[in-house]
Amino acid sequence: MKKILVLNGPNLNMLGKREPEIYGAATLDEINNSLKQKAGSMGLMLDFCQSNHEGDLLDRIQKLDGEYDGAVLNAGAFTHTSIALRDAVLATSVPVVEVHLSDPAARERYRRRSYLSGAAKGVVSGFGARSYELALYWFAVS
Ligand code: DQA
Repeated sequence: MKKILVLNGPNLNMLGKREPEIYGAATLDEINNSLKQKAGSMGLMLDFCQSNHEGDLLDRIQKLDGEYDGAVLNAGAFTHTSIALRDAVLATSVPVVEVHLSDPAARERYRRRSYLSGAAKGVVSGFGARSYELALYWFAVS
């Protein structure tokens, strides 16, 4: 069984309350529970982590090697600002799939740049909570 870390960045702990018209009504716990239920049939074992702190996210990415077969990363707004997270993704040999609930390319101009996309294995965005599921599907079939 592949072991995958589902890593969420700043403000994603606020899902459910936060701009539901953009991010949906489900809380992060609800999303994670639903992923957990589906993971077994995909042959995946999941761990979950959320942090509002860039350094914590960096530490988690640096510890992927040897512990995980992959990571699904929604870095929230750090996607658009953090060269450090990009460097961490480049430094790990573990494939990282970038995920977004919304489609940042269809939103404000400042969300159109992702520092992560060029370093990530791929990007899934715009499908709400299903974005996570679709990213996990790639790990299931690859
Ligand atoms: C997000 C998109 C980002 O632009 C935003 O800052 C977020 C959430 C998404 O999942 O759609 O916090 O990553």
